Amino acid sequence: MSEISNLKAGLIADINAADTLDALEALRVGAMGKNGVVTGLLKTLGPMSPEERLEKGPPIQDLRESVTAALADRKAALEQAALDAKLAAEKIDMTLPAGIGPQGSVHPVSQVMDELAEIFADLGFSVATGPEIEDDWHNFTALNIPETHPARAMHDTFYFPDAEGKKMLLRTHTSPVQIRTMMSGEPPIRIIAPGRVYRSDSDATHTPMFHQIEGLVIDKGITLGHLKWTLETFLKAFFERDDIVLRLRPSYFPFTEPSVEVDVGYTLTNGQRVIGGDGDAPGGGWLEVLGSGMVNRRVIEACGLDPDEWQGFAFGTGVDRLAMLKYGMNDLRAFFDGDLRWLKHYGFSALDVPTLSGGVGA
Ligand code: DAH
Repeated sequence: MSEISNLKAGLIADINAADTLDALEALRVGAMGKNGVVTGLLKTLGPMSPEERLEKGPPIQDLRESVTAALADRKAALEQAALDAKLAAEKIDMTLPAGIGPQGSVHPVSQVMDELAEIFADLGFSVATGPEIEDDWHNFTALNIPETHPARAMHDTFYFPDAEGKKMLLRTHTSPVQIRTMMSGEPPIRIIAPGRVYRSDSDATHTPMFHQIEGLVIDKGITLGHLKWTLETFLKAFFERDDIVLRLRPSYFPFTEPSVEVDVGYTLTNGQRVIGGDGDAPGGGWLEVLGSGMVNRRVIEACGLDPDEWQGFAFGTGVDRLAMLKYGMNDLRAFFDGDLRWLKHYGFSALDVPTLSGGVGA
């Protein structure tokens, strides 16, 4: 009898002193396991006579229950202590400044826009902007794009529900900034207008939002020669090569007349296509980089200017595409994934400010 109560006291003292879950498990196996002391005592009950069992059974059952309860209590206490320790160790104070600095870098699109602004600033162009939510008149009508033009079809343009009879849309190109600039200022005009544009289109080379840059010059006696020189000077500065060869192809845009599409030649250098050189050389070819032309008289008129007095040229191109050509990316969608690994690879240091003297590509 006192043997069992001594055993009980000893086991419970050991259990309460166990300071790890492993130590507690060893005690459980020693007491309650297959060959444990408590299990051994329980086994002695079987062969006993009913009278003997009536006498010896209760203290043994009490031992089993007490030890089981002590094990469970100690286990719960140790687990709670482990959780408390973990919570204390992992506690973070959200009000403290982060231990790491900013992770980003300058996105190639921003870098290219900065490069373009720098190049054109040197040629006397200022940067103009316009709203991304445009009306149908600035985006289409004033640019001599008739109602029936395919660019107006719903599959290209994101329209807003009609409001007060005014058709609003997400601008499909930066060309409406031409209109806004001519209407709000006096010529002579020399501007570029970089910004976001939207079209309902999505694959490896098209995203519903992308970036364009528009250029506009309005002055007296402006000719196609001025356009060609300006684009050549710009592309040489942008690609940082003097051997840029342009090919001007007759084309059609409603807002220019005549219209030209501009290709740059690339050549094969060590098996790689590199921009520069005569695209007609063996292994070479031409890449379309710009749409342009002499501003259509009807556009100048729509802005309230006299086309016999003022002429000019305009051009437009995709900034994302220029970035891909210069820095060698091939999937446009990655531009807008926000993946820091991509940005680490292609991004630019915030200190690499493009300057013509330092090299615009930094
Ligand atoms: N707006 C045209 C487009 O989105 C690009 C363009 C072509 C702009 C010719 C111009 C231009 O200013 O003269 O495809």
